[in-house]
Amino acid sequence: MGRKDVENYLFNQLTMVMRKKIAAANWKMNLNWNEAKELITQVLDQNPTIPSLHQVIIAVPFPYLDMASHLIAEHPGFAIAAQNCYHKSSGAYTGEVSATMLASMGIRYCLVGHSERREYQQETPAQLSDKLQLCFSQAITPVFCCGEPLTIRESGDPCDYVRNQLSESLLSLTPEQIAQLIIAYEPIWAIGTGKTASAAQAQEMHLAIRNYLTSTYGSVIADAIPILYGGSVKGNNADAIFTNPDIDGGLVGGASLNAVEFSAIIKALPQ
Ligand code: 13P
Repeated sequence: MGRKDVENYLFNQLTMVMRKKIAAANWKMNLNWNEAKELITQVLDQNPTIPSLHQVIIAVPFPYLDMASHLIAEHPGFAIAAQNCYHKSSGAYTGEVSATMLASMGIRYCLVGHSERREYQQETPAQLSDKLQLCFSQAITPVFCCGEPLTIRESGDPCDYVRNQLSESLLSLTPEQIAQLIIAYEPIWAIGTGKTASAAQAQEMHLAIRNYLTSTYGSVIADAIPILYGGSVKGNNADAIFTNPDIDGGLVGGASLNAVEFSAIIKALPQ
């Protein structure tokens, strides 16, 4: 082994060790102000300490970002995320919220490309690519969502579909930016349906994503990127999903609206 190889090896080991395990909540468009406050308070009460290799991220609606950030401020291991940002940096875009605004409030995470936004807001790969750039320009870590519809799962090549989603939107990112990314694989047919991908199906896709990242950016970067599974994750199935080697946690919708359920998911993160 030459010196460079040894350095690469050590860096690789370090990043392998450091890859965070993440329980991320996506509240979507749910809860009123008081319910939101109460839910965060309950989750904090039920999880007074979070192991240092774990991270809990709660993606709340825009109006709750500030309140939620204050509630978690003294709780290491917790962070608040936005569910979206606009694909332009500022200007006459009534009703939109920029990455710059989020950063100015201290927000450090933002979902990008959730399938519901791709479907209902017709978000395009080019727009998602711009959002990623804007997040990185503001030191916001994007949680980039991908995942195939049922038709592709039943009669297409789901891994190829997801690889395309990644290459279309990640193309303009530098390797340094890619290394900061979080990816969430959410098969659309499993979202809110109670149908979870089997642990084997999820691991197969996560491995395909990791292999794509390895072949495109190298193993050091690929090994550093947390890849989360989303789609009907519950307290009683999180364990089976999270024990897979390429699954680094979950992005949770429905079950994150209940403190007991979400806490069980947090506690299922591998130690
Ligand atoms: P469910 O957990 O409700 O299936 O939602 C998953 C999701 O879309 C998280 O972003």
